[in-house]
Amino acid sequence: MNFRIFESVDELTSGAADAILDELRGDGPAVVALSGGSTPRPVYEILGSVGMDRIASRAITWVTGDERFVPPDHPDSNARMIQQTLFARGIPPAHQFLRFETENGDPASVAAAFEGRWRELGIERITLSILGLGSDGHTASLFPGTNALDAGGVATEVFVPRLDTWRVTLTLPVLREAATMFVVAAGEDKRAVIERVAAGEELPISRVLQGAGNAWWLVDRAAYPKIAEESK
Ligand code: 6PG
Repeated sequence: MNFRIFESVDELTSGAADAILDELRGDGPAVVALSGGSTPRPVYEILGSVGMDRIASRAITWVTGDERFVPPDHPDSNARMIQQTLFARGIPPAHQFLRFETENGDPASVAAAFEGRWRELGIERITLSILGLGSDGHTASLFPGTNALDAGGVATEVFVPRLDTWRVTLTLPVLREAATMFVVAAGEDKRAVIERVAAGEELPISRVLQGAGNAWWLVDRAAYPKIAEESK
């Protein structure tokens, strides 16, 4: 496991933004999968305020990694959070944003429509996947014990009993094929699950990272697992 450890959440936030911008230097089309949740929000705020100018000329397709099945103007919407942060100053002309259009149908048809659009755009592989981590080891909406983990294709709907809610998400095969992955995690409550990953437990995040060529854990000191410290 490759770790970059930051002494505080603020340093993690700015460090993650810098790592993303560094990764997106260069030419040619790029596809960036965006995690939802609270951890990446300040990272997207930095990218949307001062970072975007550095990558505005590159043809970037931003895609939501997953979505809560709520309207796009709902406070829980990942797409809404991304619009308010990463795209606070608008979307550069060379960029495009592919989201799950939860306003246009039921979970299965929304996932299918997203997949159709993905294929229309000719997306073959994620260039950079920004992943969050739940304390149960989920990432995107690949929750433990759900059928999402067995889904093929590009996107799938999933009912999450623990949350009593539907979600739509990129699938394990698509996330696993990303060229580069950054798992961004902060806080004491994430250390225990990272320790479980470091100990070899097969959680959804572990399965996404399996065989990954270029995967990095960007964590603050509170989330950094002692097991990794001891195994040094
Ligand atoms: C979501 C995310 C999800 C998130 C984790 C961690 O839609 O919520 O895609 O996978 O990354 O639940 O969330 P926090 O960053 O809020 O702890």
